[in-house]
Amino acid sequence: MEEWWKKATVYQIYPRSFMDSDGDGIGDLRGIIQKLDYLKELGVDILWLSPVYDSPNDDNGYDIRNYHEIMSEFGTMADFDELLEEVHNREMKLIMDLVVNHTSDEHEWFQTKPDFYIWRDEPNNWRSIFSGSAWQYDEKRARYYLHLFTKKQPDLNWENPEVREAVYGMMRWWLDKGIDGFRMDVINLISKDPLFPDDDKGNGSMHYMNGPKVHEHLKEMNEKVLSHYDIVTVGETPGASTKDAVIYTDPANKELNMIFTFEHMELDQAGEKWDLKPLRLIDLKENKEKWQHALHTVGWNSLYWNNHDQPRVVSRFGNDKEFREESAKMLATCLHFMQGTPYIYQGEELGMTNVRFDSIDEYRDVETHNMYKERIELGFSHEDIMQSIYAKGRDNARTPMQWSAEPNGGFTTGTPWLSVNPNYPEINAEQRHDVNSVYTYYRALIAFRKTLDIVTTGDFTLLYREDEDIFAYERKRGDDTLTVYCNFSANSRTLPRPSGEFLIGNYEPPAGEEELELRPYEAVAFYDEVK
Ligand code: NOJ
Repeated sequence: MEEWWKKATVYQIYPRSFMDSDGDGIGDLRGIIQKLDYLKELGVDILWLSPVYDSPNDDNGYDIRNYHEIMSEFGTMADFDELLEEVHNREMKLIMDLVVNHTSDEHEWFQTKPDFYIWRDEPNNWRSIFSGSAWQYDEKRARYYLHLFTKKQPDLNWENPEVREAVYGMMRWWLDKGIDGFRMDVINLISKDPLFPDDDKGNGSMHYMNGPKVHEHLKEMNEKVLSHYDIVTVGETPGASTKDAVIYTDPANKELNMIFTFEHMELDQAGEKWDLKPLRLIDLKENKEKWQHALHTVGWNSLYWNNHDQPRVVSRFGNDKEFREESAKMLATCLHFMQGTPYIYQGEELGMTNVRFDSIDEYRDVETHNMYKERIELGFSHEDIMQSIYAKGRDNARTPMQWSAEPNGGFTTGTPWLSVNPNYPEINAEQRHDVNSVYTYYRALIAFRKTLDIVTTGDFTLLYREDEDIFAYERKRGDDTLTVYCNFSANSRTLPRPSGEFLIGNYEPPAGEEELELRPYEAVAFYDEVK
């Protein structure tokens, strides 16, 4: 039997920025409830909520103080229960963010159970992913604790069986409420090399990414928790190779259903993420091909361009000026006809873009501020740092959802916690009434995945490998062929017309019997079905 999540499309909600129902400038659960019909109309099947648990918000909810309570700014547990029920009433599913590599330092465990965390008398040289040392001195205990993220996100000690049991108990508690699965935050960082060696070549990650016991822990989690429910799981796994991905997602291994690769998100960086380099389309194509092949018939891919940690793809790999709508649709076409489960991040279906605030003070993200301080001290110029933030800062994705041309994009009647992108009068969800909009195009792509089996099961062949502007591929299932051409450039190009019928494209259907002209950022898909 085919698993239900293989034909599903996931929509990620970043609750803080989605919809504010009470005018405090912060999105909330009742705001999400108000917009469920919008999501149903789009056709998505699974909603993934970024963390909604009680948190002091050092890292916007990825620092959890209490796993069993809802963040007061977002509402109450009664609101959550209603949300879950309303999602299910619309025949959609709801998955939660599971953040168990670390907690907040304000979690009761950190206050009362030091053995739940990782302590050393002396720090090693590992760096925090959010700048500076990964170790923080604790006056009370007179020792250093490990924090791979901010100082307020101490890492849990997964070597301690009590930690694992506490996490599993918490997971069961949510699953018993009826949620439909988990997106697991940096789940491949939970097992550290117990010797904590210095890393002379890097930031320490080689000693904890896909660490020594990660598979053992996931198998145990699967056996004790996951396997008892009909759910979907996706692991966030920075630094996972295709080889690792096979181990995580091969059903025979009983770990996870799918993982998020980071490889395609690192192709436009030279060194750290803030060190910019232009994308070479050939690198992207070869990378996608590698993942499509590696997991075909063995595991399962997740497909994404965007999430709350990444800049907006239309600004990153498309053209958010003269060809914004075309390139947003082209990028969607390119991704959504691959094998895997696609993830849409809120606003992506509108073609929302990156933002540029003049002052660093207008940014809210702790990662951005830590990096800014560190780079100023290292002697980088303010202008250079701002260029990196414009290109890669996480607040690009976190500006509020643009619902309408009303003040603040209809997101709030108050003052938004992070300013709305000033382009909201032109780019907003009112486009859903327009048959040519980016939104309507996403709707069509989501529907094709449900009706065309070849999208779920077909194999993948990259075409025109050496072409620097065109990303083209073929999916085959028996004698049937689905061909996708995507022009990643503003130049027109002539290519042989694929066989079969024109399925979808982001311009008028192309003319020409033998050849077709691909216009700037044009995407076309043809389906040749042998009856
Ligand atoms: C990955 C999450 O996606 C990101 O937003 C967060 O800051 C880190 N993990 C730490 O939890």
